[in-house]
Amino acid sequence: MIKYVSTRGGIPPVTFDEAVLQGFAADGGLFVPESIPMVTPEQFISWVDLDYPDLAFELLSLFIDRSIIPANDLKQLLDNSYKSFEHPDVIGFVPLGDEGRTYIMELFHGPTLSFKDVAMGFLINILDYLLQQRKEHLSIVLATTGDTGPAAAWASAGKETIDCWPLYPRGMISEEQERQMTTLNAANVHPVGVENCADGGDDLDFVVAKLFSDEELKKRLNLSSVNSINWCRVMVQAVHYFYGYYRVVDKIGDEIIFSVPSGAFGNLFGGYLARSMGLPVNTFICANNVNQALHTAFSEGVFAKKDLVQTLSSAIDIVVPYNFWRFLYFSSGSDGEKIRSWMDEFKQNGKVELDPQILATAQKGFTSISISDARTSETIREVFHGNDGYLLDPHSAVAVAAANALKDRLPEKLKIVCLATAHPAKFPEITRACLDSGADLPEQGKHASLERASKVCQHLRLCDLENLEFALIDAMTEAPD
Ligand SMILES: Cc1ncc(COP(=O)(O)O)c(C=O)c1O
Repeated sequence: MIKYVSTRGGIPPVTFDEAVLQGFAADGGLFVPESIPMVTPEQFISWVDLDYPDLAFELLSLFIDRSIIPANDLKQLLDNSYKSFEHPDVIGFVPLGDEGRTYIMELFHGPTLSFKDVAMGFLINILDYLLQQRKEHLSIVLATTGDTGPAAAWASAGKETIDCWPLYPRGMISEEQERQMTTLNAANVHPVGVENCADGGDDLDFVVAKLFSDEELKKRLNLSSVNSINWCRVMVQAVHYFYGYYRVVDKIGDEIIFSVPSGAFGNLFGGYLARSMGLPVNTFICANNVNQALHTAFSEGVFAKKDLVQTLSSAIDIVVPYNFWRFLYFSSGSDGEKIRSWMDEFKQNGKVELDPQILATAQKGFTSISISDARTSETIREVFHGNDGYLLDPHSAVAVAAANALKDRLPEKLKIVCLATAHPAKFPEITRACLDSGADLPEQGKHASLERASKVCQHLRLCDLENLEFALIDAMTEAPD
């Protein structure tokens, strides 16, 4: 049976359901599988024509024992998770430029128009399934930089087993993202707008981590997390790399390149997982904005916390990309002791220097870059006004700008897939500013669900960061379950 351990090596192995229900490992680490399962060459070839839910079924079956979720139930959970997607294939592909080399992989066709829907709907459905079996209830607390919150709120709405508390840094996400959370009208969804978050989502992550480190409180309030701290999220995010590969390569076995706009490294960890399972990825481009903790780690071997800079691609304004610990865990040969000492050092000094050998392992098949806001807006403008006539959101533009900047240094014949992680309609102000289009938005920059949300009442709680911990505990104690 596949078991899950902590990156800090401080807990006995647990089963998949325990890892998912707990979110954080009790020793403050992140759950990872004891070893990463491999896809056999026969399986790899036989899955080429599967649709998205069926491919997800095959891949996730390698991580979830049948004794925990029987095959039929897993199939049903996956079908339910993807039936609300607008695109008939769940994910769309658009060629970019005329060289036939670059593709956009549109991951934003779910109900809240970001790639978070791809994994969140399934995670919430699994939680609901496990909680119903156990006759239990959970309060999900999560910090969001703009997209995780809406995805979790939407997926949780109306579920009797779950109360969902999305926390967001007020004024640092778009109005559209805020309204996706605050206009749901579901009694079990409680968005909290938090004022004065100098470090944005990282300030909120800190409070969430503090709540979770208090075992008594965690038990009393039945807390769990659905941030990409939760193993299930990153695991499901391995699927779109396989799916993208099958849709884009000329022949199975060819290598491929993915360019990924990266914040907390959850999406890119999904890619790393896919490659570790056998997907022939030549290079991952880790595309940061100027909050470049990942780029600095890959290029200089220093993993360090810097002050937050607010950018156009706000969902990747991340100071501490916590999934990088998972990656370092595997890069260090599953050395929990090493990760524990690094995590402690990082907490104390805001910085760790990677050993040359671990850095060399981590760098294999990765390249990285930091993209300025000026380059992001130029990319939005160029791609829209050029032959493609395609409107990118600022995060997808970071991926495209990164691919454009680095492609001449990468093997010429390989296809490059840029991950489009959000629908441009979530960022109308930025679109207007980049295209210099005054009040007019192109049709591609609109979405009916957001137009509706702009007209209805909002339900939210407001709180200052200073009081967040107290205010949350108070509100959660009050909320009916
Ligand atoms: C639109 C968008 N793009 C990219 C990312 C980055 O993903 P990750 O944090 O998994 O690196 C996020 C996550 O917050 C996002 O919302």
